[in-house]
Amino acid sequence: MSYDKQGIAPHGGELINRIATPAQREEFLSKADFLPRVQLDERAVSDLEMIAIGGFSPLTGFMNQEDYNQVVTDMRLANGVAWSIPVTLSVDEEVAASLKEGNLVRLDDSTGRYIGVLKLTQKYTYDKKREAVNVYRTDEQKHPGVQVVYNQGSVNLAGDVWLLQRDDHPLFPKYQIDPAASRQMFQEKGWRTVVGFQTRNPIHRAHEYIQKCALETVDGLFLHPLVGATKSDDIPADVRMRCYEILMEKYYPQDRVILAINPSAMRYAGPREAIFHAIVRKNYGCTHFIVGRDHAGVGDYYGTYDAQHIFDEFKPEELGIVPMKFEHAFYCTRTKQMATSKTSPSKPEERLHLSGTKVREMLRRGELPPPEFSRPEVAAELARAMRVEVPA
Ligand code: ADX
Repeated sequence: MSYDKQGIAPHGGELINRIATPAQREEFLSKADFLPRVQLDERAVSDLEMIAIGGFSPLTGFMNQEDYNQVVTDMRLANGVAWSIPVTLSVDEEVAASLKEGNLVRLDDSTGRYIGVLKLTQKYTYDKKREAVNVYRTDEQKHPGVQVVYNQGSVNLAGDVWLLQRDDHPLFPKYQIDPAASRQMFQEKGWRTVVGFQTRNPIHRAHEYIQKCALETVDGLFLHPLVGATKSDDIPADVRMRCYEILMEKYYPQDRVILAINPSAMRYAGPREAIFHAIVRKNYGCTHFIVGRDHAGVGDYYGTYDAQHIFDEFKPEELGIVPMKFEHAFYCTRTKQMATSKTSPSKPEERLHLSGTKVREMLRRGELPPPEFSRPEVAAELARAMRVEVPA
């Protein structure tokens, strides 16, 4: 791991900043009405944002064919740097035909707001099935990540991008801490080792347990929930954020934990996404990253620990961030504490573990998940958000 006074080195060596300077912005705005337009979906908007703020360093734009092919087949960029998920901008053939390589393209969000610029260097077609099978390990279209691939356009546009300006997050401005800022905060706090935690779910006791186990051995915890696009049955980000706030207030040592949002979209690519999530947290300045059971998984597409095994396919220096791997955690009724099979002698019937789906079902029936699964204040917040009446 390369570490100096600035903290851990960003992936690829340099923290990328593709936010237009005031002069560039003025120039781009003056061209607003003359540039061809491409409208971005929610995921592409968040990808643009992540590239611009350096969360996806060393990427400076949407991937070209060489990088894309190498990522899909070998989990590396064309220059050999580790990278596991394609970051591409797809459009229909018709749109692609109207754009000329070498020109600037105006990037709009779904409301038609001008938010960025692409310097188009390449247009290329790609094999959706190959991407699905290699990246998601399935081409079943009911997989939410695969579905996105099959629904998107058949031509990828490549080139460097600029974000016109960095707006405050509409819902969580206080928690919008970009990589340059989180790095600075870790420095100021004197944290040499920081563990990053990815989540797309309301925090339950197993999450809390593995975070705190990790925190026992490092200086700080970077609690970094993903707030970009998720599948429709995941709990909305604002509800999740309230749950994290509750925990921060009452159950976490505030001087050892930073809560910040990760604007990315979920891909549900399991193992490959675990590598991607780790790289992104390295860019935010984390030295360690938590990978628990079925990280970034969906349904039963991935084995419980596949997202841990995939780290063995890289030399430690290729990733430059240390995975902290945790077994499936549960509440052990024999020892009366959170545990895993590594630390508890209990039999299966002495282990309480609830899935997100089970918790949603309980809430719908008007039952609160038990305190062994969820902190009572978090359970109450979830019940409120789902508008279920629970007995006092
Ligand atoms: S994820 O899609 O963001 O991975 P989730 O928010 O459920 O989903 O998980 C966040 C992290 O906690 C992941 O590293 C996941 O592997 C881990 N995790 C979730 N539940 C458990 C559990 N019961 N035991 C161990 N690790 C867990």
